[in-house]
This record gives sequence, C-alpha cells and structure tokens, in this order.
Amino acid sequence: MDRKPIHLITPHLYGEELRYVNEAFESNWIAPLGPQVDAFEREIAAYVGARAAAALASGTAAMHMALKITGAGRGDVVFCSALTFAASCNPIIYEGAEPIFIDSEPHSWNMSPDALERAFDDCARENRLPKAVIVVDVYGQSANFGQILDICRAYGVPVLEDAAEALGAKYRGRHCGTLGDLGIYSFNGN
Ligand SMILES: Cc1ncc(COP(=O)(O)O)c(C=O)c1O
Repeated sequence: MDRKPIHLITPHLYGEELRYVNEAFESNWIAPLGPQVDAFEREIAAYVGARAAAALASGTAAMHMALKITGAGRGDVVFCSALTFAASCNPIIYEGAEPIFIDSEPHSWNMSPDALERAFDDCARENRLPKAVIVVDVYGQSANFGQILDICRAYGVPVLEDAAEALGAKYRGRHCGTLGDLGIYSFNGN
C-alpha cells in the first residue's frame, strides 16, 4: 500500500520574501521596528476589516497579551475551546488563572454553544463567571459565533478569538479574527 504522508500544513514561499529580507538588511531596519512592520499591521487590519492590528512575536504572545487586557489572573477562571493547539490555553496558566475546557460540537469540532451555555450556568451558580472566553476557529473553520456571542454578551464576558489557523476564512461575511472582542492570528512558518 502507498503510504504517502498527507501534510497538515506546508509553508508557501512566493518569491518576494527574499527581496523584503534584503531590503530590511540594506535599510538597516532590523530592530526594533520599521516600515515593514508598520505596513504589515496596516495591511492586515485593512484586509480583515479590523480597526487596528499590532504585530507581536508570535500568535502565542498575541493571545497572552489579549488575555492580559482582560485582567485575568490568580483566582479567575477562563473558558477555552477543548480541541485546539496548546497555545490557546497556555496563556491562561501563565497568568495563574484556571482554564475550563468547553467541549466541541461534532460537525465543526469547534466550541459547542450548548456546552458553553451549560458551563456558564454552572459557573453562575457558583458566582464565579469566567474572566474571558477563548474561542478557537480550528483548522480554519469558524466557530458558531452567532450563538457563542449571544451567550457571552448575556453574561457580559469578553470573547478572545483564536484565529491563528483561520486567516482568510469568514463567518457570515466577516473575517475570522474580527468576530470576538479581540482576535489573534499566527504567522508561524507552518
Ligand atoms: C489554534 C492555535 N492557536 C495558537 C497558535 C500559536 O501560534 P504561534 O505558533 O504563532 O505562537 C497556533 C499555532 O501554532 C494555533 O494553531
């Protein structure tokens, strides 16, 4: 039997990358930031229709910063999609908060609105609402943001969208990464 591997994700290089790397060296804009990063932030925000974008070192760092903005810390709980890459939930631990994993719906593998509702019910009963809900668009498939946002808005809890894998995907005409209160993308080489 032919056991040719099916690669999950492979890098694409289109030919302009080397020119931009050379430009950065030739112009001496290596650190701290420069016109390339400014242009990147501007262009990505325009492409997805976001009000603004900030380039960080990685998707993980971006999710960490997003979580810091919510003020989550020791003694807090944060909800997170159960099926994801570890970087979605690691920042919860970095901040000393406790992750509560919300199960997936069977057809999209993304956060189940029903499971989310149940988790909110449980936490509300204990008077311990989450500081934030981290919703992942797994493998580029958007989560069910219509229902998820309704639930989170009803409890007044911010939504952090982990669209690391979903740049270019859309939900009801809007770009993934712009559906929650804050969104992050990854430009990891893979
Ligand atoms: C769902 C998800 N979240 C976060 C990350 C972290 O992104 P980065 O590798 O840029 O830190 C990745 C990818 O690695 C990811 O797939």
